[in-house]
Amino acid sequence: MSAPATPVEVSPLAKLPIEFLGSFPDPMHPLDPPLPEFAMIGRSNVGKSSLLNALVGRRALARVSQTPGKTQLLNIYKLPSLYLIDLPGYGFAQADKGTRLAYRKLLEGFLRKRTSLTGVIWLLDIRHKPSKDDGEFHRLLTDAGCAVLAVLTKADKLTRSGRDKAAAERADAIGFPLDQVQVVSAQTGYGVADLGASLLAAATAGPDEVA
Ligand code: GTP
Ligand code: MG
Repeated sequence: MSAPATPVEVSPLAKLPIEFLGSFPDPMHPLDPPLPEFAMIGRSNVGKSSLLNALVGRRALARVSQTPGKTQLLNIYKLPSLYLIDLPGYGFAQADKGTRLAYRKLLEGFLRKRTSLTGVIWLLDIRHKPSKDDGEFHRLLTDAGCAVLAVLTKADKLTRSGRDKAAAERADAIGFPLDQVQVVSAQTGYGVADLGASLLAAATAGPDEVA
């Protein structure tokens, strides 16, 4: 069997023990012991749960679904030096107005009041221009003053040149320097080890050095 063209490194988080702490409706749910917290946020179906699984090297830890809106609560995972929080996706078109408003409140509360939050991993699908929902969420992030690492998902859906071009366009659209944008594929593992290494480094460095 021939070696893959691009060797895929293993995410450093995959070597660590991980514990699912549970699903919580309260954005302020306290965590003990206090450790750096990173939240995965993005549009419904963007690939948050899949990326979390890839990052920690477990195939089916976080629930992945063809049905958008699957993750309804804060799902919290503990690693030895940090917490990962898988949040419900925003912009779930089929949800009724009340559900969307309740969700926006949850997200806003989470971003503004959760002082223990170290950084946000903001996921965008590399194939699409940021949507209206992404724009609104970007404003929430800016208002809350969160440290953000942007992650472009599903890179396997594009060719290498298409990927580079799209990454530059998306970075430009959200006003992030390219080195604050990580391109990944949960399917092939592309970029996942780098993202894992960045998270571990940020967890050790403290809140001021995340992005
Ligand atoms: P919600 O919890 O509903 O907000 O969705 P999510 O953002 O957690 O997305 P999820 O990980 O459940 O993935 C949604 C769909 O995208 C599933 O069909 C995944 O298999 C697919 N998907 C996720 N990541 C990738 C990827 O890197 N490449 C490809 N090709 N498909 C992916
Ligand atoms: Mg999910």
